[in-house]
Amino acid sequence: MKKLFLVLLCLAVAGLSFGQTMIGLAMPETHVLRWTKDGASLKANAEKLKYKAEVQYADGNQNTQNQQIQSFLTQGAKALVIGCINNGVASVVREAARDGVVVIAYDRIIPNSADYDYYITFNNFKVGQLQAQGIVEALNLTKVTAAAPKYITLFAGSPTDGNAFFFFDGAMSVLNPHIDRGALIVVGPAPRYSTDTANFQRIATEGWQAPVAKRRMEDLLNNAARNVTLDAVLAPNDTLARAIIEACKADAKYRGKLPAVSGQDAEFESMMMIKSGEQYMTVFKDTAKLAEAAITLADQILKKQQINIKGAVLARNVGLANIGNTGLKTVNAYLLDPILITKKNLDVPVKAGFYNDRADKGAPITAK
Ligand code: BGC
Repeated sequence: MKKLFLVLLCLAVAGLSFGQTMIGLAMPETHVLRWTKDGASLKANAEKLKYKAEVQYADGNQNTQNQQIQSFLTQGAKALVIGCINNGVASVVREAARDGVVVIAYDRIIPNSADYDYYITFNNFKVGQLQAQGIVEALNLTKVTAAAPKYITLFAGSPTDGNAFFFFDGAMSVLNPHIDRGALIVVGPAPRYSTDTANFQRIATEGWQAPVAKRRMEDLLNNAARNVTLDAVLAPNDTLARAIIEACKADAKYRGKLPAVSGQDAEFESMMMIKSGEQYMTVFKDTAKLAEAAITLADQILKKQQINIKGAVLARNVGLANIGNTGLKTVNAYLLDPILITKKNLDVPVKAGFYNDRADKGAPITAK
């Protein structure tokens, strides 16, 4: 009897764990809103495919994330989807590889590692191009001449995040020609490319922290930009854009007219500020699609199927192999397409269901 019970129990446990391969989802932070959504979408997609999934957020601390990843490994995870904080993640990725665990770099490259093969993200160079295109449009820059130039100041994202370099270089690929012909003047540190490391560090925002950007903007307004009126600010994402706008609003000079500020992420608050004219543009990256694609990728790798990610292109096929360069090897990087959002097409993310996790589903953005 006892034996039969044990056999039945074993069968039941086996039954429960059948089809329950675990995927560990490691997200970097919650102070930038998107990641909460990324985590939730990843988990939902993994569970839809009958995986057991757990998501952890690391509060911008790589040690915390490494512990979370180690715990996934202890729990027997077969795949990890990692949005990392900095290159300190490489040691746990190595452990995962030793255990034969599939690692997918999510949105951000895992730098300085040769221990994984897949990366899924957006076309981050294009994100920057769109930010600059928004500014060119806002300032009508193609019509501006050196006789009456426009003034801009530059911000970049965290120097610990590979994306920050692509965003910046994409933006500068559009702005540099206008700087060259004297129509656009950079106030403050003026790197032309992220490879100008000293100046890039001066405009970078450690940890994508809003207070850091706000303080730097206040400092610029009181010093380098004291004797000019800024027409634009290149801001790398919405969280930082709003901090920069806050600093400008506290300066009497900008009470009538704020500079045209760029952004990224289509955060609800920024969408409302684009509507009211306080922020000029954002870049919509449909992270629900990114999460779905990442789980499809994990699923196909785990099942040893042919990789086929709908709506994504391989970076090397569009001349952007560099996006997949970890510093130690070039991984397969799949890119989704970002979309420029201004006052004219605020409905795009709303219609895509991007705010479906809100009670109002983003309706105030499109309400008249
Ligand atoms: C992401 C952005 C985000 C930023 C700060 C970047 O790696 O691509 O969407 O705004 O990190 O979290």
